[in-house]
Amino acid sequence: MIDDTKYIEIHGVEQAFKTPKGRFVALRDVNLNVAKGEFITLIGHSGCGKSTLLNLIAGLTTPTQGSLLCANKEIKGPGPERAVVFQNHSLLPWLTCFENVYLAVERVFAATESKAQLRARTDAALALVGLSHAAQKRPGEISGGMKQRVGIARALSMEPKVLLMDEPFGALDALTRAKLQDELLAIVQKTHSTVVMVTHDVDEAVLLSDRIVMLTNGPAATIGEVLSVDIPRPRNRVELAEDPAYVHARKAVIDFLYTRQAHVEKVAA
Ligand SMILES: Nc1ncnc2c1ncn2[C@@H]1O[C@H](COP(=O)(O)OP(=O)(O)O)[C@@H](O)[C@H]1O
Ligand SMILES: [Mg+2]
Repeated sequence: MIDDTKYIEIHGVEQAFKTPKGRFVALRDVNLNVAKGEFITLIGHSGCGKSTLLNLIAGLTTPTQGSLLCANKEIKGPGPERAVVFQNHSLLPWLTCFENVYLAVERVFAATESKAQLRARTDAALALVGLSHAAQKRPGEISGGMKQRVGIARALSMEPKVLLMDEPFGALDALTRAKLQDELLAIVQKTHSTVVMVTHDVDEAVLLSDRIVMLTNGPAATIGEVLSVDIPRPRNRVELAEDPAYVHARKAVIDFLYTRQAHVEKVAA
């Protein structure tokens, strides 16, 4: 039996790196359960360990202590049930948008489905992010926002159990970012995906999250506080601006980040 309230389990995770100056503990004693269908954001100052934690869930790295599970199974490496979207989209520039998505679809479903079915999946994923019209364009011919949409389409096309995103909108201008946040809200409403997303944007975290996981500053960063965002969905950014629950959540995150975890800029070594 899979316990839906513990779809992802993180138990006593430590991540240390070997560096020329010795052992560096990036994360320590991280404990978190993510429920099926939940939207979690990880927020914290630059360098605190957000990407390190996401990479552990993605299975791109293994912890130096503790364990991570997805659907009751230990996470031992990357897998199509945990699709990752990075900030810099990582599309293959010589392939069209269609081909970039098709490649992922093929990897997951080629063994069991016909070419027509694979093409239909690819078309559906591009339609989901509103990019049907750009299917035959190459990454060099489309905007940054569109490239990020292709990255999201590619991830969703694999029908992952969990969508992992590392600052997916971080490199976009404010208006494009807002548009993609709204689109992501609508997509997740439709797909009921379980999402863990890294961000350093307070408004983005409050708008999207069921819970906001706030990390303390490193080294040896850990979860400082977890905030539930009890705002009903569907959420509308214009109406939210004055919603007391929104204002309260936003203030709680800002308090954590700028009062309790006021960032001390490290002098470059
Ligand atoms: N492979 C690595 N080797 C050594 N140190 C690392 C490695 N990856 C990350 N770090 C260090 O771990 C800390 C957390 O990094 P990261 O997870 O990238 O932070 P964030 O994503 O929150 O900005 C930083 O101090 C970073 O320098
Ligand atoms: Mg990062």
